[in-house]
Amino acid sequence: WRTQMAREFIMAVDQGTTSSRAVIFNKKGEIVSYSAKEFPQIYPRAGWVEHNPKDITDSVEFVMLDAVKKAGVNADNIDSIGITNQRETTLVWDRNTGVPIYNAIVWQCRRTADFCTQLKESEKERMIYAKTGLTADAYFSATKLKWILDTVKGARTKAYNGDLCFGTVDTYLMWHLSKGKIFKTDYSNASRTMLYNIHDFCYDKELLKLFEIPECMLPKVCASSHFYGKTDASFFGCEIPVMGVAGDQQAALFGHLCLEKGDIKNTYGTGCFLLMNTGGECVDSKRGLISTLGASVNPDGRPDYCLEGSVFIGGAVVKWLRDEMGLIENAAQSETIAKSIKDTNGVYFVPAFVGLGAPHWDADVRGMICGLTRGTGKAHIVRAALEAIAYQVFDVVHAMERDTGVTINKLTVGGGASMNNFLLKFQSDILNIPVERPKMAETTALGACFLAGLKSGYFKDTAELKKLAVSENQFSPDMDSATRDKLIMGWETAIARARAR
Ligand code: G3P
Repeated sequence: WRTQMAREFIMAVDQGTTSSRAVIFNKKGEIVSYSAKEFPQIYPRAGWVEHNPKDITDSVEFVMLDAVKKAGVNADNIDSIGITNQRETTLVWDRNTGVPIYNAIVWQCRRTADFCTQLKESEKERMIYAKTGLTADAYFSATKLKWILDTVKGARTKAYNGDLCFGTVDTYLMWHLSKGKIFKTDYSNASRTMLYNIHDFCYDKELLKLFEIPECMLPKVCASSHFYGKTDASFFGCEIPVMGVAGDQQAALFGHLCLEKGDIKNTYGTGCFLLMNTGGECVDSKRGLISTLGASVNPDGRPDYCLEGSVFIGGAVVKWLRDEMGLIENAAQSETIAKSIKDTNGVYFVPAFVGLGAPHWDADVRGMICGLTRGTGKAHIVRAALEAIAYQVFDVVHAMERDTGVTINKLTVGGGASMNNFLLKFQSDILNIPVERPKMAETTALGACFLAGLKSGYFKDTAELKKLAVSENQFSPDMDSATRDKLIMGWETAIARARAR
């Protein structure tokens, strides 16, 4: 039995693209313990990215148990769990055995890019955008799911017979942790599948037909703050209710308490994701941004819309410098190295490893480093990589300003790579606005904690959340406009060169 007194903490699980994290929070929204585990990335071909589903579940189980241990508490002391996850990543498993029929196809994977080009050419794109808010891109789940059903022998027949389940990572984790009892997702994750009609709030029949996907394999869609069910007692020694679920970017928006129309945040994770809460209004973008459903706790149960600029490679470029190039030993070193020189001496790095997302949506472009001279050294490349993250965010900030007519006069940020002070100072200089980073960097996990706690009654309401103390680091611009204009022009030339065919 679970007494009121004993339920002192909330556990947030943040299952990201390259690592899984568990964070235990107290009633003040402070971190009591933290555990993180990286897991392998699988690159079967150029532009393809997969995860082994077992690596996902093993790393999640590990960090959950580790966080409980580090906090020195019992699982019994956990009020509820909030889950937040890398979005769009697609899993299909056998409903009877729970065994996945293929690796998880990761959001970054480009394997269905040709099919998406056909969709664009057949003018289906406009219909897809009108229903889902998304551009017809390989990024989203629908074409990945279609690829699995087309490719794995017998899969489509099994799917139509009701023997297969589809899920994004949230759904798969809940299925796993409940031993098959929970088969649900939330609005924010459903809106990334390219199968969900964000105006009618249902899976869309025309899209299901287009992608040949039977509705019986899709999870039930619920509010982000909702009683999803309980974890099986075999995992933590007692059942723990799952009360919050949201895609990581929407959870971060909630964690930053961007609850009002016009509130905006940018997260520097594996990619970079700029989201603006647009309230009840679904903005029709003319500049390559997408609309998506937020993680909201509105009285009518319906989620807010968000306008999103999705950049595929953000912090991932720092990992690439470390793991593939061996130019740095750890992420923190990139800051010291970048600061050791005054500029890149004309070097630009376009990290289009998996094509370009917003605002370009160019699946075929690949990465490029240009402006190399005899004097170019390791520091120039490292600095150019960090600057590229900021330039990409600059591009989406400007697209958002033009789409909405709202002038963005400060940027609130979070995510792993936001710990890099050089990056945030350069970001502030290039945007010519202040950049604010909460001292507590785990905003995504905090969003999941808030969503769970609001449902369980751990937190009374959003007014209580707003009273929780947050202190911030501010980065202010001091770059002269001639330098800024010259740097931005150089970036635009580099992008044009990378895209030239
Ligand atoms: O849409 C992809 C996004 O959810 C991935 O997030 O934190 O792994 O970069 P992250």
